[in-house]
Amino acid sequence: MTQDELKRMVGQAAADYVNAHAPEGAVIGVGTGSTANCFIEALAPHRARYRGAVSSSVATTARLEQHGIPVFDLNEIESLPVYVDGADEIDASGAMIKGGGGALTREKIVASVSEVFVCIADASKRVDVLGSFPLPIEVVPMARTAIGRRVMALGGVPVLRVRQDGAPYITDNGNEILDVKGLQIAAPRELEATINAWPGVVTVGLFAARGADLCLLGSGTGVESILYGAPR
Ligand code: A5P
Repeated sequence: MTQDELKRMVGQAAADYVNAHAPEGAVIGVGTGSTANCFIEALAPHRARYRGAVSSSVATTARLEQHGIPVFDLNEIESLPVYVDGADEIDASGAMIKGGGGALTREKIVASVSEVFVCIADASKRVDVLGSFPLPIEVVPMARTAIGRRVMALGGVPVLRVRQDGAPYITDNGNEILDVKGLQIAAPRELEATINAWPGVVTVGLFAARGADLCLLGSGTGVESILYGAPR
């Protein structure tokens, strides 16, 4: 199977999970990226079952609206039974690197108010140790160089994310992203707490303190359901 077929398969599996577990009339948290897009497509035929969604990015909002799914501001919503999103890497504890699509801050906010985080990924995303995929850090632009120095002191190599025209990539929140290469992240919770405490860091793309509760992992043999302990 191609990677796109695997993404469609886990997108469908996530829609099946949500249809079976989320109450009718619920608002669903929706992530960002090509795998999350497959989830939106699989959920769309069932949209009448839901009040709508809370989105993790401008791009996801547009896609949800294209599919006729109402989008709510998180400030209007008290609780989300489930959040469905992809990942760039996921380890055996359910800790993830996210933010390859630049939406890490809103993803982390929506995930933080969700009861169950369902990660959907193809098997290439499963790793023993996080860090082969460059770790994104969303930064306030004036702090970019200072944060870069701290990253280098940890042994990482910070690279400013740029658009195709060479200008800095700007997030939905008006900030920049440093992609950090060369880290072997053996203690993701500790590194997440360390980097989050640096002035000027908006969000680090480590999702360990609030990792996945369930991963629906697609491979040539089907969809494997991996549970990481009791849902928070
Ligand atoms: C978006 O900012 C990311 O966190 C995505 O969830 C992650 O990059 C996975 O994207 P794909 O599903 O496109 O691989």
